[in-house]
Amino acid sequence: MPVTIVLGGQWGDEGKGKITDALAATADIVVRPNGSTNAGHTVVTDEGVFKLHVIPSGILYPHCTCIIGAGVAVSPPDFLREIESLRERHPRLGQLYVSDRAHVIMPYHPLLDLYEERRRGAAGIGTTLRGNGPAFTDKIARRGIRIADLLPGSEHSLRHKLEMLLPEKNTLFIHLYGESPLDLDQLFEQARTWGEALAPYVIAAEVFVQDALDAGKSVIIEAAQGTMLDPDYGTYPYVTSSSPTAAGACQGAGVAPTQVDRIVGVFKAYTTRVGAGPFPTELTDETGQLIRERGREYGTTTGRPRRVGWFDAVAARYSARHNGMTEAALTKLDMLDPLPEVRIGVGYRIDNQEVSAPPAQVERYAAVEPVYEVLPGWQCDTSQVTSFDDLPPEAQRYVTRIEELIGVPITMIGVGPARHQILWRPAGALT
Ligand code: GDP
Ligand code: IMO
Ligand code: MG
Repeated sequence: MPVTIVLGGQWGDEGKGKITDALAATADIVVRPNGSTNAGHTVVTDEGVFKLHVIPSGILYPHCTCIIGAGVAVSPPDFLREIESLRERHPRLGQLYVSDRAHVIMPYHPLLDLYEERRRGAAGIGTTLRGNGPAFTDKIARRGIRIADLLPGSEHSLRHKLEMLLPEKNTLFIHLYGESPLDLDQLFEQARTWGEALAPYVIAAEVFVQDALDAGKSVIIEAAQGTMLDPDYGTYPYVTSSSPTAAGACQGAGVAPTQVDRIVGVFKAYTTRVGAGPFPTELTDETGQLIRERGREYGTTTGRPRRVGWFDAVAARYSARHNGMTEAALTKLDMLDPLPEVRIGVGYRIDNQEVSAPPAQVERYAAVEPVYEVLPGWQCDTSQVTSFDDLPPEAQRYVTRIEELIGVPITMIGVGPARHQILWRPAGALT
């Protein structure tokens, strides 16, 4: 059954947008299963650079139907702005739908995100301040507002739900954070207006996807974030609030695990993360600075500088296994072009003992000493290379060594941001 999952193998920003866009050239449907506008996926076409936040990366193909799944938290004004600005720049978009079961990022969610980050001070998570965490908190606490609740005809129940939940939010605003309360009438009116604007996009997405699969259509599930930001398997509590894994992708898109036949893990040729939290192979020296500047490693959503480090094969192998990846894409290889040597973190040593997987406790990370393997650099431009065999031997060795370490064939290699800058390798060395 033709379902492909594209997901992040590291801490996000691996180039999922670019890989999804490449695969979507021949797909019927692309579904976003998780996250919110905290994501920023970049697609570069001849028409320019497109930064997508909640809209799936297939949207730039008129043949592609894009769906925001039940597992996403949607900010209606951000969604409406995003589609409007895409329409202005790109008149030939695919069809776009939103699940009636998706949760809504309400006006109090970004405020709660901000106030809670301020309260945590130096212990802050470094969130994107999009209200993602508070929206998923409300979902799990069974007091969330869903897209269906905003639609015309639901006014009575919507008002009742807001009457029930607003006193709790306002108590926090006033008594915990020392901020102003929100007004019920204004909130209700705002939500009702959003419902009117969203109505043309809303469908029972999981039914639509299953009908499409029955009709033989091909589906890509484009997850947001990365496995090491997963609330269960990532560097908790420095994680996001919905699951970016293959299992989370199935859940959020309304697809069964048995319907998936391809799981593509996207990895950057080095590692980055935005926000706080453990990062064993982080580089705080000039090499890190060089990669950050060359790779323009600044957040797509927030513009924050991304932290940069060597490829962490311990986290990557953990992520490859956990997600059952059938293949991997390695992006931004070209960013390492000038380096005289490249390193791969092949082990974690904690208290003089090597461990084979990331520790559960964030405090244990402080004791991690990465074990590195040093490989020669290639020191030449790879951005114009068009096949794997034409890469310098040192770059080929770097790719195949990562492939061995993660245990998954690398079938796509990124050597630049443009659509044509992918080296396709029908079978990685492991197959
Ligand atoms: P995503 O969140 O995983 O979709 O990744 P982002 O879009 O946030 O960040 C990836 C950045 O790397 C974007 O600016 C892409 O245009 C860029 N990019 C993706 N693949 C490559 C590549 O192979 N080489 C180069 N130089 N840039 C790439
Ligand atoms: P894409 O899909 C990288 C990070 C934030 C922060 C943590 C929690 O573009 O790869 P949140 O706002 O989710 O509560 O923040 O997660 N984060 C991302 N980092 N790429 C992303 O998305 C991210 N989405 C959230 O920086 O550390
Ligand atoms: Mg991103």
